[in-house]
Amino acid sequence: MKLNKSSKIYIAGHLGMVGSACWRVLEKLGYSNLIGRTSKELDLRNQSQVHDFIRDSKPDVIIDAAAKVGGIVANKDYPYQFLMENMQIQNNLISAAHELSIAKFIFLGSSCIYPKLAAQPLKEEYLLTDSLEPTNEWYAIAKISGVKLCEAIRRQFGKDFVSLMPTNLYGSNDNFNLQTSHVLPAMMRKFHEAKESNHSDVTLWGSGSPMREFLHVDDLANAVVFALENVLPDYLYNVGTGTDVTIKELAETIQSQVGHKGRINWDSSKPDGTPRKLMDSSKMMQLGWRPTYNLKTGIANTYSWFLENQAHLKEVKFEVK
Ligand SMILES: NC(=O)c1ccc[n+]([C@@H]2O[C@H](COP(=O)([O-])OP(=O)(O)OC[C@H]3O[C@@H](n4cnc5c(N)ncnc54)[C@H](OP(=O)(O)O)[C@@H]3O)[C@@H](O)[C@H]2O)c1
Repeated sequence: MKLNKSSKIYIAGHLGMVGSACWRVLEKLGYSNLIGRTSKELDLRNQSQVHDFIRDSKPDVIIDAAAKVGGIVANKDYPYQFLMENMQIQNNLISAAHELSIAKFIFLGSSCIYPKLAAQPLKEEYLLTDSLEPTNEWYAIAKISGVKLCEAIRRQFGKDFVSLMPTNLYGSNDNFNLQTSHVLPAMMRKFHEAKESNHSDVTLWGSGSPMREFLHVDDLANAVVFALENVLPDYLYNVGTGTDVTIKELAETIQSQVGHKGRINWDSSKPDGTPRKLMDSSKMMQLGWRPTYNLKTGIANTYSWFLENQAHLKEVKFEVK
């Protein structure tokens, strides 16, 4: 199927961080027929509702950016919801797309699908070669089953169903709640609030030595557009920058972009987590996709968004519906 600017594109999870970035980037490129539903309007856990919605709205392509996401604590406390709801959401979307002959499906997962002790940088071929990180295996197993389902449909029916696995993302519409957010938005908020209170000290967890990779969410959205506009030859692609930084370097970059002049204290009594997590995204890059932001420009862009949207920042708390 050749996509054109009036092709109907359904973005599941269109108000989330990833879904809203896909919407923004597609709109900017002139795609004029985008559709989305909130979870209140359409609960993706409900198979018949999902089937009816896809049948009636007849999208040309589906981007699955809907998921029950959360940190280690939420994964530990709600293993059933992480496994079941994510399988329900993706199974309902994938089966409706298959049964109703939707030409293209893009499934989004995350780097947690790869084994805990896999060699770095993580290559797609490491999938299912060893045990997962136990703290988020519920989420990871759901995501692996989504990847495999798309691969099975591709293999058995020759359909253009493809999975993209992004590295750590940041950018507009991120979660800045200090209890539930990821490291980058949490640091940005801490530095901003410390700047506002007379450049007071900022205390950060761990030693600052672990290495992590960060991708601006608009660059992921560009990768999604790349996968929409091209037929990718394989079923699974990592999406990252290919470079990582220490948490200390990350903190200093955010501090300088925010303009905080106080001290940083490292609380080394707190855990560091895994020493390094870097994805090998060369397979996607060889096809022609490239990230456009470096860490500095991406953080500057995100901080501008943070300042403009402080009054209505997303405050994600994990809730069981
Ligand atoms: N953020 C990251 O750093 C990161 C990194 C790698 C991969 N990813 C992947 O990207 C995808 C999206 O993540 P995100 O960060 O954009 O998450 P997010 O901001 O929490 O957005 C998730 C979206 O899913 C929707 N959703 C959840 N349960 C639903 C249900 N039962 N019915 C309908 N919609 C439902 C939510 O809709 P409502 O708001 O209407 O409830 C929300 O729009 C996930 O697959 C995640 O694994 C994210």
